[in-house]
Amino acid sequence: MKKDQKIQDLIDGYGNWVTEKDDNKAGFTGRMSMDLFPYDSMFSPIRVNGVTLKNRLVMAPMGNIDMCEETGRPNDKMLQYFFARAKGGVGLITTGLIPVSHGIDPSITEMGGLTYFPRIDRSRTVFSGWRDLAQGVHANGCRIFIQLTAGLGRVGNPQCLINEMKFPVSASINPNFYIPQIPCLALSTGKLKKIIKNAGQATADARAAGIDGVYLHGHEGYLLEQMTNPAFNRRKLGRYSDWQMFGLDMVREMRRRGGPSYPIMYRIDLSLALNETYGEDGMSIPALKKFKNGRTIEETLEYMEHLVEAGVDMFDVDLGCYDNWWLPHPPAGMPAGCFLDISEIVRTRFQTKKILSNAGLPVPVVAVGKLGYPDIAEKAIRDGKCDMIMLGRPLLADPDWPVKAYSGNVSGIRPCIGCQEGCINEFVDGGHPQCAVNPRSGFENVIDETPVPASFPKRIAVVGGGPAGITFAVTAAKRGHKVDLYEKSGAIGGRLLPGSVPKIKYEVANYRKYLEKILAEAVAEGSVTLHLNTPVDPDQLKDKGYDSIVFAVGTVNAAPKLQGMESAKTVQAVDLLSDPSRIGGAKNIVVIGGGVVGCETAYWLAYEHGLKVTVVEMLPYLMKGVCTANRGHLIYYLKRAGVRLMNCAKVTRFENGGVTVSCNTSKGVPDPYNTWQPILPENIENPLAPKIGDSVTEETLPADLVVLALGGRPDDRLFYRAQEIHAANELFNIGDSFGAGKVLEATRAAITLTYKI
Ligand SMILES: Cc1cc2nc3c(=O)[nH]c(=O)nc-3n(C[C@H](O)[C@H](O)[C@H](O)COP(=O)(O)O)c2cc1C
Ligand code: SF4
Repeated sequence: MKKDQKIQDLIDGYGNWVTEKDDNKAGFTGRMSMDLFPYDSMFSPIRVNGVTLKNRLVMAPMGNIDMCEETGRPNDKMLQYFFARAKGGVGLITTGLIPVSHGIDPSITEMGGLTYFPRIDRSRTVFSGWRDLAQGVHANGCRIFIQLTAGLGRVGNPQCLINEMKFPVSASINPNFYIPQIPCLALSTGKLKKIIKNAGQATADARAAGIDGVYLHGHEGYLLEQMTNPAFNRRKLGRYSDWQMFGLDMVREMRRRGGPSYPIMYRIDLSLALNETYGEDGMSIPALKKFKNGRTIEETLEYMEHLVEAGVDMFDVDLGCYDNWWLPHPPAGMPAGCFLDISEIVRTRFQTKKILSNAGLPVPVVAVGKLGYPDIAEKAIRDGKCDMIMLGRPLLADPDWPVKAYSGNVSGIRPCIGCQEGCINEFVDGGHPQCAVNPRSGFENVIDETPVPASFPKRIAVVGGGPAGITFAVTAAKRGHKVDLYEKSGAIGGRLLPGSVPKIKYEVANYRKYLEKILAEAVAEGSVTLHLNTPVDPDQLKDKGYDSIVFAVGTVNAAPKLQGMESAKTVQAVDLLSDPSRIGGAKNIVVIGGGVVGCETAYWLAYEHGLKVTVVEMLPYLMKGVCTANRGHLIYYLKRAGVRLMNCAKVTRFENGGVTVSCNTSKGVPDPYNTWQPILPENIENPLAPKIGDSVTEETLPADLVVLALGGRPDDRLFYRAQEIHAANELFNIGDSFGAGKVLEATRAAITLTYKI
């Protein structure tokens, strides 16, 4: 089995970094510091073939799924979304993936020929949308490249088989990612040549529409990579049995149609990192075993040199693929700047070999992955780890990141929290890109950037100082309302307080600081009065005569009543995180509840406290509903820390200093450590999924501390009491106390309400 030691070290480090004692030395924990201000390296121009970019900041491609009309013409949602980022100061925008294989890759087209992907391959029907987009981006002094994809191949939705009796496709016969029992059929050379022709035509069309360059989607195991990585391309015959040839032919055709000075960018992963992730044993799993022969670092670098000869002007580089999805979509738990060592390898090679593009220019290497920290980004360029910085989620969270970094307002940047609730998970569930911390993201066409002053300023009480309460209070104050914010504890943040204790949640700590700052500003202006340590009673609020009262009080922890429980030492996960001294010398810990709070607490106990931990979950899957990348990262490294994960397992009683669990051990119970396959959304049925039987065994787990992480129920008691006594004319219940359950829904509710009240 081929393994790269450099990649292996990175894979090991993506879990272990939390054990590093000195955060600053490790440089992994991203902080919104500004020690290196002014950021002269980030804000210096760079030339890419015929185009000059005003700075080194690139907006990452993020699929513009459902941001188009049914024809594929970009709609106003997409236009305003990009205009906001262009105005925010980024030098180059790249669109999300735009397929050029409709009619060839059945997974990208919906029934009835509809599409949720914007299209550029329908000539005049869609051109006006692209022209408007390019012109509006240019009007803000920014450039835009369009990301073209050959298709999804094996990582596409296999429902095309059920809906249209069409098998998904790939380079060779490969298992589908979502349902590995479904084979993807190998595309013929003729169809592959058609995709290449389409990519050339799309290049010519993009140029005609005023788009500044084209960008190939060659990473993460999509169809272009399936053709250009021997892990997936095991063809024996024909031109494309040479795994480099499809990519090279595509670039040559794009260069031919785009002309010599039209920029071509290429996105590549240095390695799939599958062998390094799963090792010999893992790679014998049926869903993975065909993929052992991935490109080595050296093979990738050679391929990149050939791509430059064929016409590529610029690259961005990452790591991994769908089957280890936490790499290309690094979630909360991954360290900041996680792929800087990867871009450095490429840049060093290009510098050493003096690689120049066909235009005679150095080939810029763009780094990506959790780089939303101005000091880390600036240092990466200064240290020669990359030429440019790509920002994806940081620009969803705050489109004005570049302008704020340039002007030294770093603490004013709204940080991404790595949750992937609003961005990736919205796609999976059928939505469009959004953001948990920025409720305007993806709604720029309907939510004004600056809230309009209220016609009738009101006196408003807000109860609860979590994300929903603060977002509401600060925005309502901007509209001219007078707000009293009541928080029963001594600090604002709500669940963000315990939620930011584990090191893997450093981004949540940043977000909490940001909320503190914007609230402090509103308090200093006199538009919000903060009442800490002030539990409220609806009857007292009524006496104060508010026009409106907004309840955002969160949840009450669920606490099971089980036989013998009074004899055991138990603690709620949130209380333990708030007060780690409650670990109290325990060595064996059982966490009841394998949702995200339970698993993050287990991670913290195992890595940061070195304890032996077992997680018990009643459902077949741990962390159901959590983004596959976030789930995958936690599960993979929980396994490596020796944490025992038990699914389909129910605690029945506490006895003899332990926890007795009845556990379903039948064959169909999913492997709790499976990180190479996603959980299918509930509305998709997998007829091939093994049925779960009901053979149950009992086991008593030693436990000197039992951590309860069973979630919470909405705490709507105050709201209903207020309603009963008519405490004010307008009463609202938002966020977790309404049952939101996610930061995304809590902040969305806060903004929606604030703009109306
Ligand atoms: C919502 C979302 C959609 C994405 N869609 C694409 C895509 O269309 N094409 C692509 O190459 N990468 C896509 N990515 C990956 C990003 O371009 C980027 O590599 C990743 O988010 C890591 O960068 P970040 O930490 O700055 O967000 C997507 C990421 C997100 C969050
Ligand atoms: S939804 Fe979460 S991960 Fe995605 S951009 Fe927003 S804060 Fe970041």
